[in-house]
Amino acid sequence: MKLKKEGVGKAHSKIILMGEHAVVYGYPALALPLKGIEVTCQILPGQKELERDKQDPLVTAIHAALDHLAVTDRQLTYTISSQVPERRGMGSSAAVSLAAIRAVFDYCGQALADQLLEELVNQAERVAHTNPSGLDAKTCLSDSPLVYTRTEGFRPVKLDLSAYLVIADTGLHGQTSEAVQKVKNQGNQAQPYLEQLGHLTDQALVVISRQDLTSLGQVMTQAHGLLDGLGVSCPEANALVAAALEAGALGAKMTGGGLGGCIIALTPSREAAERISQHLAEKGARETWIESL
Ligand code: MEV
Repeated sequence: MKLKKEGVGKAHSKIILMGEHAVVYGYPALALPLKGIEVTCQILPGQKELERDKQDPLVTAIHAALDHLAVTDRQLTYTISSQVPERRGMGSSAAVSLAAIRAVFDYCGQALADQLLEELVNQAERVAHTNPSGLDAKTCLSDSPLVYTRTEGFRPVKLDLSAYLVIADTGLHGQTSEAVQKVKNQGNQAQPYLEQLGHLTDQALVVISRQDLTSLGQVMTQAHGLLDGLGVSCPEANALVAAALEAGALGAKMTGGGLGGCIIALTPSREAAERISQHLAEKGARETWIESL
């Protein structure tokens, strides 16, 4: 196989609107690609062999791609440039792995089918956290919002809400694997919370189809209460959720694995989104983004 002088791969990030954690237990989740927030990986010839590191999802992703292509020359190096803040529940581990696998295939001049890409990224995601539902990889691969369940896979959903989502970063690393473990340790006690979260995602889909923003906001805030009850939120995320509601958001919740990471707030107009975004920055959000829904 003739290797190129450089391989480049890109991937976009994602945000979970509803259903995080419950999705691990077979309930539905609703997630959106954030197409404007990207990661780029570049693979270049290096001076020494790239060592395997089972703790590192990025290096695992690169080796998984090289193993698949049966490449023996592993003298290479990589760079990552990312608009996705690391470990903030925006799919950065899945996005980084996707970009890296695409970069390896580009470096080797090989075509890459989506299904294989998803298999390889899920291998790396199992390193990032032991029992990934597959939602992050799927959403980072998707161009449209999707509903995902572990058993039934995904289906695209139409979101045409004339609404805006403010995403605000607590500035703290989210801890997905710890949070997933924390829920698992609760055994049967977590079950009513997970069930209700699943039910709220179903409800969110109904109110989305009716373009009922007020109810969607309420459902999001209820989901936050349940996630906090499960112990996967944190004081900083709770404070930003409260600040968003105080500033007039229709609803707000943590998003992703939690124990840090980001919150999202629903607003009916760009002006409201900008005002809430400003308020969240004053209340300590590290960074904010506005996405139209
Ligand atoms: C992490 O972004 C989402 C979780 O539901 C875990 C998963 O789906 O694998 C917490």
